[in-house]
Amino acid sequence: MTAEHLRRRTFAIISHPDAGKTTLTEKLLLYGGAIHTAGAVKARRGAQKAATSDWMDLEKKRGISITSSVLQFEYGGIRYNLLDTPGHQDFSEDTYRTLTAADCAIMLIDAAKGVEAQTKKLFHVCRMRGTPIVTFVNKLDRPARDAFALMSEIEETLGMKTVPRTWPIGSGDLFKGVYDLDGKSVLTFDRTAKNASRVPMQMRGLDDPQIDAIAGSELAQSLRDEVELLTGAGDSFDLSAFLKGDISPVFFGSALTNFGVEPFLEAFKDICPAPGPRETSGGHVEPGEDRFTSFVFKVQANMDPNHRDRIAFMRICSGKFESGMRVWHYRLGKEIRLARAEQLFAQERQTIHEAWAGDVVGLHDPGLFRIGDTLSTGGPVTFDSVPRFSPEHFARATLLDPMKRKQMQKGVDELAEEGTVQLFFQPGREKDPIMGVVGQLQFEVLAYRLEHEYGAKVALDRLPFGYARWVEGATSCAELESRRIPLAVTDIDGHPVALMQSEWDVRRLERDNESWKFLETAPMGSGFAKREA
Ligand code: G4P
Repeated sequence: MTAEHLRRRTFAIISHPDAGKTTLTEKLLLYGGAIHTAGAVKARRGAQKAATSDWMDLEKKRGISITSSVLQFEYGGIRYNLLDTPGHQDFSEDTYRTLTAADCAIMLIDAAKGVEAQTKKLFHVCRMRGTPIVTFVNKLDRPARDAFALMSEIEETLGMKTVPRTWPIGSGDLFKGVYDLDGKSVLTFDRTAKNASRVPMQMRGLDDPQIDAIAGSELAQSLRDEVELLTGAGDSFDLSAFLKGDISPVFFGSALTNFGVEPFLEAFKDICPAPGPRETSGGHVEPGEDRFTSFVFKVQANMDPNHRDRIAFMRICSGKFESGMRVWHYRLGKEIRLARAEQLFAQERQTIHEAWAGDVVGLHDPGLFRIGDTLSTGGPVTFDSVPRFSPEHFARATLLDPMKRKQMQKGVDELAEEGTVQLFFQPGREKDPIMGVVGQLQFEVLAYRLEHEYGAKVALDRLPFGYARWVEGATSCAELESRRIPLAVTDIDGHPVALMQSEWDVRRLERDNESWKFLETAPMGSGFAKREA
């Protein structure tokens, strides 16, 4: 039995591009003492972008980051694993899959913009999995929407009850600090010239006349009125409702100026859950048990431009990892040795020798691992942890050099294994699969890698679909076709899938076929092995 897992917290930040995820990440590292001045994370990203590699030239060209990783830091005796969810145009299925390895999510919202499209999608994935969500409303140092209006928008658009834990005192130039509703104290901050270091914070009672002097009597009075209103509403924070994913505590602040970051981290420390039990094929595993279990949720190609090998990211669910240990690889049905593992502590890549439940480690992968693979000691086990998500963009590839068919097929299959694309098969055209991705850029990555890694130059012909639904209850494509489904295909495991153009199509099919279930996700099977060459 080990206790190390009790001090592990594994979380991800979900947000729309530009809401401040990088900035908040930096500040978490800063307050965790992992870096001493902010600016380093962005610098690292910049350095990464400058590194030349073959297909990552694409990254350079587009000025975005395709790679993502896991950052670790300590705060208040807790060891945090922060899983980076790719955003911007490199938003992809990887972003969703990463959430399967997190025990909690911070939903970051721009106070002027409210709930945006990408946040909604990521929220939806967390909700589906019952992941607890903490909300941080950012950029209060800029003109912001009214705090009450923001809370109602979150409740209405996302359908989740919110409970404020801190409350902003003004916004824009008048943003003075936050009121801590649990500690019943006013926290004001000094605007320091530099935002790169921790910001001094003062604590006062709500009736302290100093508050009038700092914020002005009008702002001080509206704070007192708002606090009375909030307290009168009697919405106290219920930890178990939060852990079930039913309510979201809300914090306000400004990652850029550091206002509100410290009270947020202090509260987060107390509510972010430690790793819990996980369901497996044979009952659940407890994080503290001796038996080692883990699953692979992401395979990253070409992290090191000098080598062609890959890194498989594994989330440990129970027991202890030790380098050199022998584990059972469920899909391959054999024992393997886990040799070199890496973690990124703050910004440094380190070889690690041990890790515990909750930790995420990167394994050098000579081609042994696929997304969804389970590794364990004490006999075989499988997790249902990493589903496939409905792609939003679809295309077929036309090979530009007919002599390269074999290379293209090999490339497409390998990239599907890695999770870059999903494959769907239309009856009668099995050799010409439809490819689906969540983020458009994945198509560019696919075409680039097919050409540069496999020597197969392709043109991608886009198809007009936007939705895939796995149809539970139907057994074949023929059955789907008889029901006016725009295009009936099978996935790589042979499950019938309906491809549709619009939300309206989806609703119509659901309405007309009540005996079937149209699922947005499908379990990751072992189907990659099934495709015939
Ligand atoms: P992202 O990772 O979510 O995409 O966002 P990122 O942190 O890169 O922030 C996007 C922009 O918003 C950056 O400005 C950043 O400085 C700014 N920002 C983040 N948090 C706050 C905040 O609390 N207040 C204010 N006022 N701005 C914030 P930029 O001009 O695009 O980049 P930079 O030149 O500042 O790096």
